[in-house]
Amino acid sequence: MPGSVLLWTRVTPTPDALPGSGAGPDISVGWEVAADAGFKKIVARGTAATGAARDHTVKVVAGRLAPASSYWYRFTLGAAVSAVGRTRTAPAAGAPVDHLKFGVVSCANWQAGYFSSYRHLAARGDLDAVLHLGDYLYEYEPGGYQARDVVVRPHDPAVEMTRLEHYRRRHAQYKTDPDLQALHAAAPFIVTWDDHESANDAWKGGAENHTEGAEGAWRERFAAAHQAYAEWMPVRYEPGGQLYRRLDFGSLASLSMLDLRSYRDQQAANGADPAVGSPARTITGAAQMNWLLGNLKSTGPQWKLVGNPVMIAPVRVPSTLSTAELSGVQKLMGGTSISGVPYNVDQWDGYEADQHRVISHLRDNAVKDTVFLTGDIHSGWACDIPADPATYPFTGDSVAAELVCTSVTSDNLDDILNVPPRTVSVVVENAIKAANPHVKYLDFDSHGYSVLDITPAGVRMDWYVLAERTSAGSGSTLSTSFKVQANTGKVTKAQGGI
Ligand SMILES: [Fe+2]
Repeated sequence: MPGSVLLWTRVTPTPDALPGSGAGPDISVGWEVAADAGFKKIVARGTAATGAARDHTVKVVAGRLAPASSYWYRFTLGAAVSAVGRTRTAPAAGAPVDHLKFGVVSCANWQAGYFSSYRHLAARGDLDAVLHLGDYLYEYEPGGYQARDVVVRPHDPAVEMTRLEHYRRRHAQYKTDPDLQALHAAAPFIVTWDDHESANDAWKGGAENHTEGAEGAWRERFAAAHQAYAEWMPVRYEPGGQLYRRLDFGSLASLSMLDLRSYRDQQAANGADPAVGSPARTITGAAQMNWLLGNLKSTGPQWKLVGNPVMIAPVRVPSTLSTAELSGVQKLMGGTSISGVPYNVDQWDGYEADQHRVISHLRDNAVKDTVFLTGDIHSGWACDIPADPATYPFTGDSVAAELVCTSVTSDNLDDILNVPPRTVSVVVENAIKAANPHVKYLDFDSHGYSVLDITPAGVRMDWYVLAERTSAGSGSTLSTSFKVQANTGKVTKAQGGI
């Protein structure tokens, strides 16, 4: 926020106060915020209470800070002093802003490799914030979901997380990763969840990876997942509250962060299921939809950015794929093998009424400069969003752009097909692009991260890819860049790196 920032840590005051244990005393932790990394100019300080009831996590809102400013913070407990974190406040409401830069990431499966993407983002030193679009952690037991059938490092606890103590311990395990620690210490995170923070393909009443009864009641499991998320993530969300929210960055950009798991109806059976088009089914819920449409129509900041956990651009399955290619795509997307129908019913494509509500709202109100920033699908995409895919790009023009970051580690098409990168996938990518001409860029194989650069003239995304996700210390290289020029609503290729 312009005047405040949320600080987070977790303490282990006694040896028994381990994550998920429910043990350990209530304590008070000191915190300090300074305008310099050496803590000569301390601008705020205080204490925060924690204990076993919140798994000894600490969340502090440090207020009365200046907008668009960097700060450094640390915690104390007795003689112990934490590592120092750097954070940053947002620009003041309505203030002119010529430049913002965000890291953009999703889908970090511990068992599938190392979080080198986070280390590379941390090393940049130029980020205003990191957008984490979901799948910050995964629920599976050891071996339940890994890297080409190899567990690079096993999950803890050694079970699928279904209960509060499991969710807490899994969050704690992820937070031990040195690259993730480095990125949290380098920049503030703006987060939303997707499905794996609770269970695969979650919806309001269940999940694909949940067995009602044998794994308890979904309502209780979802509540446990939300409680652990609220405790362990640096986010102004408390259980029973609302995760979707809007953040403004002066006159330059608003950012609507969506929650597409708490209110959605159950997924359709596949893309040919008539439920896909039912106006009664929703992915957002009515209240969040009204809020989103209002944000998009607002006369406030120029760029309407949407933190969108699953893809909104319509994508149809091409009829030219082989059976093996189709089954690989189906496994990656959890979709259907029927050609010509939506390929992924867990995305907005599976909730066409809501998808059309957003697209027709943008068209009918001539809303400019909307960009969806998306994760979930373990692949890099740059898409126009057609007003009408049937007539695009002729009479049905693009109403917005969608930029999709790939996975930090989670498997994608070459992994699922068990083929070398940039071989079979290239054929599939070309077939999808031919059948969906609004898809301008698609990379089904790479793992890595994105950097988003925002100015009044345009929004641009750079995709960086890792040399090897299963090696700690992997290098990364710039793969490609696409931009959305102001007033165009279209993606075009950009040259060079930011
Ligand atoms: Fe994922």
